[in-house]
Amino acid sequence: MTPKARTIYRCTSCGADHPRWAGRCDVCGEWNTLVEEPVARTPSPGGGKGAARRLAGARSLGEGGQVATPLKLGSVVGAAEPRWKTGLAEFDFVLGGGIVPGSMVLVGGEPGIGKSTILLQVAAKLQSAGHRTLYVSGEESPLQVKLRAERLEDDAGDVLILGETLLETMIAKLEPAVLIVDSIQTVFTGDLESAPGSVGQVRECAARLMRFAKETGTTVFVVGHVTREGGIAGPKTLEHIVDTVLYFEGEGTLDHRILRAIKNRFGSIDEIGVFRMTANGLDPVQNPSELFLGDRLNHASGSAVTALLEGTRPVLIEIQGLAAKSGFGIPQRVSTGYDSRRLALLLAVLDKRAGLSFSQLDVFLNVVGGVRLQEPAGDLAVATALASSVYDRAIAPSSVFLGEVGLGGEIRPVSQSERRLGEAAKMGMTTAYMSERGIPSRLPKGIRPTGVRTIGDLFSKLFS
Ligand code: TYD
Ligand code: MG
Repeated sequence: MTPKARTIYRCTSCGADHPRWAGRCDVCGEWNTLVEEPVARTPSPGGGKGAARRLAGARSLGEGGQVATPLKLGSVVGAAEPRWKTGLAEFDFVLGGGIVPGSMVLVGGEPGIGKSTILLQVAAKLQSAGHRTLYVSGEESPLQVKLRAERLEDDAGDVLILGETLLETMIAKLEPAVLIVDSIQTVFTGDLESAPGSVGQVRECAARLMRFAKETGTTVFVVGHVTREGGIAGPKTLEHIVDTVLYFEGEGTLDHRILRAIKNRFGSIDEIGVFRMTANGLDPVQNPSELFLGDRLNHASGSAVTALLEGTRPVLIEIQGLAAKSGFGIPQRVSTGYDSRRLALLLAVLDKRAGLSFSQLDVFLNVVGGVRLQEPAGDLAVATALASSVYDRAIAPSSVFLGEVGLGGEIRPVSQSERRLGEAAKMGMTTAYMSERGIPSRLPKGIRPTGVRTIGDLFSKLFS
């Protein structure tokens, strides 16, 4: 009799299990879909596909012989624990008002963006607030982490550090209130044969850390690297396991970073926090609009400002357009921070509805500050920046543009215009061009909305 294998390889496409790894699932025929996982200890009645899922579920509930008894919701006891504030303002804000004890938070982002830095700062803050914090680094030696800590403003001297990659060791250690794992790609469990960083390892380790968080009430932060392409064994495979997913974004050449919540069981998503990378770590930026509008040239053509709504917080952003005579061949369309198909669409609308032809012009569009403009509410500013470049006429720097542009050239109202106008007014804007129908009844002080129906209507107001 051969000894029973401890792990199996399951096809992520059809759920079939295989005793050993293969490049192709011989049940469904898909390539590269086999992922290692521990063998279910009790055979499940359904067998096959559901078994692994049930195994994962069972593990997180009551393994170890306990039988779970259902309760009436009304008789569930216990008070919601207050959140822990790190004191790193933007970090707390993105989490929805601080850390929820016993939750698991994934911090994803490209290598070098600042994930280790921010978590070390968080560790220092939590430790000095009296929460026992353990920083487990599989990427850097304790000395390297110490050298980094010395650059930071907060004193991280009391944070516990452990250079370890074996999961079993790190969760057996010391019972911290906060566990930081940097990074999930370096962690492995002895129960699987595959290498650290493989999908099987990453998933299994994350699931166990999650269970550890729930069972012990430990708050767990894990770092996950993503590559430019989105990463195979990266944060994407973990998003459904953890409570909260934060992504750290930024342009390599710029010193500000955006922390974005893309999943949050304990707060709203799409909230952003803005930081600046300094010589002493990451500094929360109190007023992002100020940062993004800071370097604006006031009287150059091809620039228009809009107010984006990121989560619940409006942020003013500058859009730059440049239309320049093209050389030979097909004119170029280059867009940074804005969907290039949306740009093509707007160019066609500008041509057809406002008589602006771009067929002989190269078009460059840039959303300033490395921000990604995804809301249609920014259309009007994009169209205006482009028209301003074509006419070579600058827009008054105290104007803001809010509106979605339709295929007919019509300008549509945007959501929550009152809050956007509020932010614009706060930043000293005095005129807002927007859809007539979208003008809120309560207007913030200092800003005067101008209703426009179509882009033709707007351009005749601006450029004639
Ligand atoms: P790091 O946190 O190591 O990135 P990640 O963990 O996401 O890979 O950040 C690395 C970059 O940050 C590196 O280029 C150095 C820079 N940095 C500063 O500019 N100031 C600082 O105080 C620190 C600690 C790092
Ligand atoms: Mg790091």
